Amino acid sequence: MTLDTIAQAAYLVAALLFILALAGLSKHETAKTGNGFGIAGMVVALAATIALAVHRDISTLGVVLLVVAMVLGAAVGLQRARVVQMTGMPELIALLHSFVGLAAVLVGWNGYLEVEAHPEGAEARTLAALGLGGIHSAEVFVGVFIGAVTFTGSIVAFLKLSARINSKPLMLPGKNFLNLGALAVFVALTVWFVIDPRLWLLVVVTAVALALGWHLVASIGGGDMPVVVSMLNSYSGWAAAASGFLLENNLLIVTGALVGSSGAYLSYIMCKAMNRSFISVIAGGFGLENTAAGSDVDYGEHKEITADGAAELLADASSVIITPGYGMAVAQAQHGVAELTRRLRDRGVEVRFGIHPVAGRLPGHMNVLLAEAKVPYDIVLEMDEINDDFADTDVVLVIGANDTVNPAAAEDPGSPIAGMPVLRVWEARNVVVFKRSMSSGYAGVQNPLFFRDNSAMLFGDAKERVEDLLRALPAPSTAGAGARAGN
Ligand code: TAP
Repeated sequence: MTLDTIAQAAYLVAALLFILALAGLSKHETAKTGNGFGIAGMVVALAATIALAVHRDISTLGVVLLVVAMVLGAAVGLQRARVVQMTGMPELIALLHSFVGLAAVLVGWNGYLEVEAHPEGAEARTLAALGLGGIHSAEVFVGVFIGAVTFTGSIVAFLKLSARINSKPLMLPGKNFLNLGALAVFVALTVWFVIDPRLWLLVVVTAVALALGWHLVASIGGGDMPVVVSMLNSYSGWAAAASGFLLENNLLIVTGALVGSSGAYLSYIMCKAMNRSFISVIAGGFGLENTAAGSDVDYGEHKEITADGAAELLADASSVIITPGYGMAVAQAQHGVAELTRRLRDRGVEVRFGIHPVAGRLPGHMNVLLAEAKVPYDIVLEMDEINDDFADTDVVLVIGANDTVNPAAAEDPGSPIAGMPVLRVWEARNVVVFKRSMSSGYAGVQNPLFFRDNSAMLFGDAKERVEDLLRALPAPSTAGAGARAGN
C-alpha cells in the first residue's frame, strides 16, 4: 500500500470523525464527546497531511517552516483559548474566521503564481495537457473572492462584537446596488480570467471582494450580529472548500463543505427564531431601510426598587420567572441566581427560567452558565415554551437582559428590532430589572419596559444585587422547607 493510499484512508477516517463531532455538538449532553471526536479528527488529518507533504517534495526548510508555524499557532491558540471569557467567544470566533478567509486568499494567490503566472512550469503544463487550465483559473478566482469576503467581513464582525466600532448598521445610499454590483463584477471578471488569466484581474477581484465583505457586515445592525457570526462561519467553510480544490485535498473539500453547510443551516435557524429574512441577512441587510432608533421617544419616568423591596415582592410571590441576559454573564451572577432559585423553591415558590434564543453573546450562552451553576434542566425553558405564562406570573426577574425583553420589538413597527420575537415579561404582575444604568442593550435601542408601571429598576452589578437579595431573603425554617420537599 502506498503512502498516498494510506493518507486518503486517513482522510476518510478524519471526515467521519468530523461528522461525529457535529452530531455530538448538537446536544448539551454529548457536546464534550463531540469535541473529542473533532480533536481526534484534526490530529488524524494533520498527521496524514504532514506525512504526505514530507513524502512528496517538501524541502528541509519547508519542514522547518511547517513545524515553526504549527508550534507558534498552537501556542497562541492554546493561550487564547485558556484566557478567553465566555462573553468574548463570539469575537474570538469571528477573528478565527478571518484567518480562514486570509488563508484562502493566500492559497488562491499562490495557485495563480505557481500556475497561471508560470505557463511553462511543470504544474501548468500538466493542467494544460489535461485540459484543466480554465478550471484551475476559476478555482483561483472563486477561492480568492470567497476568502477575501470572509476576511474583511469577519474583521468587521470582530470589531463590532468587541465594541471597538459602533454596532449600528451602515446605511450607504444604494447599498443593495453596491452589493449586487460587486457580485456582477465578480461574475464578469471570472469569465474574463478563465479566458485570459491576467494578474490585474486577480488584483481587482481581491480589492472588490475585500470591500464587499467589509460592506456586507457593516450594513448589518447589532441585533442581527448573531446571525452574521454563523453566516461568516459558513463563508469560512466555503473558503476552505475552495482551497481544498486548489490544493487537491479531498479532506479540506469535505471539511469545508461540512462547516459551510452547517453554518448556513445555523444561520437559517437563527433567522427563523428571530423572525428575520435569511436572504436579507446574508445579503447584508437587503431590503432593510433606515429605521428610527426610538431613542428620542420620551417614555416618562422609571421607578427604582431596593434589594429589600424586591425581597418583599418575592416573599409574597407564588410564581417567579427569571429571564437572564448578557449582563448575568458579565457579572458572573449565575451562582447567586442558582442559590436564589433554590431558596425560593424551598419556600414553595414555582421558579422557572425563560431563555431567549439569542440571549447573551453566543447560542446557548445562558444554558451553559445555568448548567454550570447546577440549575436543573427541567426548569430552564425556551422562549416559545414559556412566553404564554408571563401573564400568570407574580414576579419576573430580568437579570442583565435588555434587547431580548424589549416590548418595542413587538409593539413598535419602526423599531430596528421590530418583529424579533421577545420574552413578553411585561405581561407579568411585577417586573424587577437588574442592570447598572438606563443604557441600552446590544442593539442600541431604548427599552420602554423600564418605564412601565409594573416595572422597577434594581440598579448595580447583577452579582452584587443578587447577593443583597439573598441576604434580604432569609432561608426558610427547616419545618417550612420540609413541608415543600420535592418542589
Ligand atoms: P443585551 O441587550 O446585550 O443587554 C445586556 C444588558 O446587561 C445591558 O443593557 C447592560 O446594561 C446589562 N449589564 C451589563 N453588565 C452588567 C452587570 N455587570 N450587571 C448588571 N447588568 C449588566 O442582552 P440580551 O437581552 O441578552 O440580548 C442579547 C443581545 O446580543 C441581542 O441584541 C442579540 O441579538 C445580541 N447578540 C447575541 C448573540 C447570541 S448568539 N446570543 C451574539 C451576538 C450578539 P447596563 O450597562 O446598564 O448595566
